[in-house]
Amino acid sequence: MPIKQLQEVDIKRKTLVIRQDLNAPMKDGHITNDKRIRAALSTIETALAGGAGVIVLSHLGRPTEEQYEEQFSLKPVAERLTKLLGLAVPLVAGFEDAKAAPGQCVLMENVRFLKGEKKNDPTLAAKLAALGDVYVMDAFGAAHRAHASTEGAVHLAPVACVGLLMAAELAAFAKVMDRPQRPLVAVIGGSKVSTKLGILKNLLDKIDSLIVGGGIANTFLAAAGCNVGASFCERDLIPEAEKIMNQAKTQGKELPLPVDLVTAAELAPGQKAVSREAGAVQDKEMILDIGPKTVERYAALLDKAATVVWNGPVGAFETDPFGAGTKALATILANSKAFVVVGGGDSVAAVEGYGLADKMGYISTGSGASLELLEGKVLPSVAALEDRG
Ligand code: 3PG
Repeated sequence: MPIKQLQEVDIKRKTLVIRQDLNAPMKDGHITNDKRIRAALSTIETALAGGAGVIVLSHLGRPTEEQYEEQFSLKPVAERLTKLLGLAVPLVAGFEDAKAAPGQCVLMENVRFLKGEKKNDPTLAAKLAALGDVYVMDAFGAAHRAHASTEGAVHLAPVACVGLLMAAELAAFAKVMDRPQRPLVAVIGGSKVSTKLGILKNLLDKIDSLIVGGGIANTFLAAAGCNVGASFCERDLIPEAEKIMNQAKTQGKELPLPVDLVTAAELAPGQKAVSREAGAVQDKEMILDIGPKTVERYAALLDKAATVVWNGPVGAFETDPFGAGTKALATILANSKAFVVVGGGDSVAAVEGYGLADKMGYISTGSGASLELLEGKVLPSVAALEDRG
């Protein structure tokens, strides 16, 4: 269903309330990665350039409602916004001071300090919605939360529309999920089948090939009868893995499993890495990465792809020497002619760590939200925006 876009709204001399996801990682009160803040800039800049006053809302972390705690204050974010926008962005404590004349931008303190935010309290939602003339939902990273600022206020605002970042995120995922150029290949890694079972099942009908990686691949290898030794493996989900493999076979879809692996006695830096054929893993060994033959196989498959979605690493990439498989995969995708969407915290961190982010088709700023889209769920914020059409 269509969603009203920011560009379709008359914003001149209006007050825009922009809900963004400025939930940047912090250490000792300092922002350690400001990519979410940078990603939010285009919507604010567009609003200011269009003659609007801007009140920005965001959450940070998971504080207890009604309890101010400095570690969850958006103060460092206001400072960073000030720097990035080249415009003073004061942090205002609450509703009374949340006012912005045309050309001004203020950031209101963490919405999760407010009573009723997480319970989507209609009174709070109405108050947030009444802060301005237009409510702009741009917090893709929090769009899977039915909270007062992400869902309730969208229903109640005088005018509601989607912001530029969230529109771009939805468009990128629609290119994968709704109208992909084919072949479509999904690479789903990470440790647990249990957290991604919904995604695997939902994607199976849509994709042409599915590559599973990390701990998920271990469960599939065990289902295929291979010894996975002391590797992380969800044995109770082996029947589900079998079902998925059988379904892929019936539907004529490729689901290649690793043919060679990198193992070690434990997951710790500097461990001796051992190369093993799949099926030759020893009882006391842990599978921690894919081997070069597997990389070659995946490269051949990805070479044919027109669209790729990648979520989750294929090995314990953060621990040396088990990152080669994930790095090789990231490099293949960076050089691919396919439209590549990368979502999920770990795979995005890997791509950024290898300096390959600019070479991907789209890097999502949402972790949980992107997982839910891949699962085929309708995000509550999107449903609310569609309702306001
Ligand atoms: C995130 O970091 O994934 C988003 O900001 C959502 O945060 P939450 O999981 O605390 O709702």
